[in-house]
Amino acid sequence: MNYPIIAPSLLSADFSDMEQALALIEKSGGDWVHFDVMDGSFVPDITFGHKMVNDMRKRSDLPFDVHLMVYHPETQVEKFAHAGADYITIQVEATIHLHSVIMQIKELGKKAGISIVPSTQPGRIKELLCFVDLVLIMTVNPGYGGQKLIHETLEKVVELKELKKNKNYNFIIEIDGGVNRETCGTVLKAGPEAIVTGSAFFDDKDPAAYIRLFKK
Ligand code: DX5
Ligand code: ZN
Repeated sequence: MNYPIIAPSLLSADFSDMEQALALIEKSGGDWVHFDVMDGSFVPDITFGHKMVNDMRKRSDLPFDVHLMVYHPETQVEKFAHAGADYITIQVEATIHLHSVIMQIKELGKKAGISIVPSTQPGRIKELLCFVDLVLIMTVNPGYGGQKLIHETLEKVVELKELKKNKNYNFIIEIDGGVNRETCGTVLKAGPEAIVTGSAFFDDKDPAAYIRLFKK
């Protein structure tokens, strides 16, 4: 794998033509497909559920990176696992049963991720880091594509990289939100191993060249 992993987010795709969105991700050199699942409660909008993942699973072999922005993720993870998700990431603010849901995801044979919103500090997840495969740092407030990067959140990438090195952890550090051609340099400097990008990828005239910017 040529790092950082780039995970285009379907949130900015044309929902009436997800097949074409998937083809564009594959053709442009995207590494993972990022699914933003929203419940209209943890975040204001509603997007899609496990059936979307299931139906798209038949059309791609790329890893599916499922980001659950939903309350009570414990009621959802089994459905997304059976639908064909590879990574299932939950928001730590969305349940009090974090350890139990992480274990649930792992017992289903999937990679478990935890995500923190901009106002949640990495200290909150310290005890969970030895159990997870991925830590997703929200670099915007979850809910919408096309928002401005909150630069301060990138400090968390540096902090987590340090922790990871010191403790010999294996999780992937991923960021999500506000990544585009303008913020590319700053983002790369912080050094996440995986980057989610939605609107900047789907709106770009040359999405393949856009992805190459991160792979230099
Ligand atoms: C926001 C979502 C993101 C979103 C990012 O709540 O989690 O994955 O698609 O969109 P951009 O890249 O446009 O900021
Ligand atoms: Zn996301």
